[in-house]
Amino acid sequence: MKKITISADLEIYDSEAELPNDVQDLMTEAIEAREKSYSPYSKFKVGAAILMENGEVVTGSNQENASYPAGLCAERTAIFYAGAKYPEIKITKMALTARSENHQVEVPTPPCGSCRQAIAEYEVKQEQPIEIYFMGEKGKIVKANSISDLLPLIFDNSYL
Ligand code: THU
Repeated sequence: MKKITISADLEIYDSEAELPNDVQDLMTEAIEAREKSYSPYSKFKVGAAILMENGEVVTGSNQENASYPAGLCAERTAIFYAGAKYPEIKITKMALTARSENHQVEVPTPPCGSCRQAIAEYEVKQEQPIEIYFMGEKGKIVKANSISDLLPLIFDNSYL
């Protein structure tokens, strides 16, 4: 038996003002998308904005349902839309933000496990990493250079 250690380098930005200009713009689009969230059950609004290699931005928000599992997270709403609208164009960056109607979300909110798996599929498809920036409503922003930094031991098509 031997042990291995899996680690990831993440970057922490103190505020939106510290982000590169294009990411600030992308985060602004994510915030706008977040406010279009349909989340009457959780009152937790999530927005995602995706920058494509052709400069287009695709956004999405979480869409809930009275049958709870039928709803979808913001990240998958956005990335499936990007895949459907621009199947041949690579995704370069994603900006994510969340806020609650019940309390102030000051901690950066990472994508859930299912969304990480969905994002991983597109990284594998396009053979290029996707930068992921995530924040709460305000405060610090975390940057991952690739979904593999958030989802080690990815299950991909090589196992099929
Ligand atoms: N949610 C997202 O949109 N993205 C995530 O990564 C985590 C959770 C949504 C799903 C649900 O509408 C609400 O947040 C509460 O879980």
